[in-house]
Amino acid sequence: QKVIFSGAQPTGSLTLGNYIGAIQNWKELEKDYQCYYSIVDLHSLTVKQDPQAFRQANLSFLAQYLAAGLDPEKNVLFFQSHVREHTELAWVLSCYTYMGELNRMTQFKDKSEKHKDNINVGLYTYPVLMAADILLYQTDLVPVGDDQRQHLELCRDIAMRFNNVYGDTFRIPEAHIGKIGARIMSLQEPDKKMSKTDENQNGVIHMLDPADIILKKLKKAVTDSENLVKYRPEQPGIQNLMTIHATLSGWTLEQVEAHYEGKGYGVFKNDVAELITGKTEPFREKYAAYLADEALLKKVYSSGADRARERAAVTVATVKLRLGLV
Ligand code: TYM
Repeated sequence: QKVIFSGAQPTGSLTLGNYIGAIQNWKELEKDYQCYYSIVDLHSLTVKQDPQAFRQANLSFLAQYLAAGLDPEKNVLFFQSHVREHTELAWVLSCYTYMGELNRMTQFKDKSEKHKDNINVGLYTYPVLMAADILLYQTDLVPVGDDQRQHLELCRDIAMRFNNVYGDTFRIPEAHIGKIGARIMSLQEPDKKMSKTDENQNGVIHMLDPADIILKKLKKAVTDSENLVKYRPEQPGIQNLMTIHATLSGWTLEQVEAHYEGKGYGVFKNDVAELITGKTEPFREKYAAYLADEALLKKVYSSGADRARERAAVTVATVKLRLGLV
């Protein structure tokens, strides 16, 4: 069976961008693939975390995965740090990654711009750990948002480089990036992607936001003075809202455009808010129930780690053999 790997960092809480760009697709793909969906807690250590809050955020993310409808029987849901093969393979791969390649990563450049006081080595080698995540499971497909495209390319390059030297060791993964919705923008600055940790939280919709907050954020969303619901680059705010509408309603952009002809932004924004809360309200309810059930969460992540380890161990054993490690 074909294999999928993907993950999200447990910082803050899931945004509408994470949901539309990634998790909505994860759910869709669970039917046809064996899926490994990880909470990549080790990646989050590249930014300073308060231990107590971090522990809470980790469990909260697992509850959010479940609330999003990911079936823990069908899918392997687990914490990255529970499977030590991730860091083990990351070291090996780091010896097959060039500094020049990591220097070119735009996310590293952006993040080191943002965290000037903490440009640590982990932030720099982050894409290598990500490559290890993917290659460990002999992954065919990686469903992600557009911002992960460059990391995926690097992962493929590292895998091919290794295979060229040692013979077929890693399956070469493909990115799975949605045609629409792969880059949801901030509601306040529609030229910037919606991000969990944005300072301007008015621009970010969290899956756990209550309905009244979502409506408020939508009303404040930056648009333009055209008063036209049309998908074109000179209207980035409206483009973004149309994308959100289309991905949640299942309509095409043309259908959205036709429906709101002559209707004005007030009505349109209200409808988008309603579409969002149609997803977030059930999400919030399920989330609360899952979060309260500690025994269930523990059962899910323990069995997830066991199943993940089983597959990861095979890859690491092969890699060690190929490398000539005794
Ligand atoms: P993270 O935690 O930033 O985001 C999780 C997923 O959500 C997607 N995403 C978006 N999609 C559309 N619009 C947005 N505004 C938006 N913001 C985020 C991301 O593309 C991602 O798919 N490095 C990864 C985590 C990771 C990973 C991996 C992913 C670690 N190892 C291996 C895939 C495979 C990250 O920080 O995602």
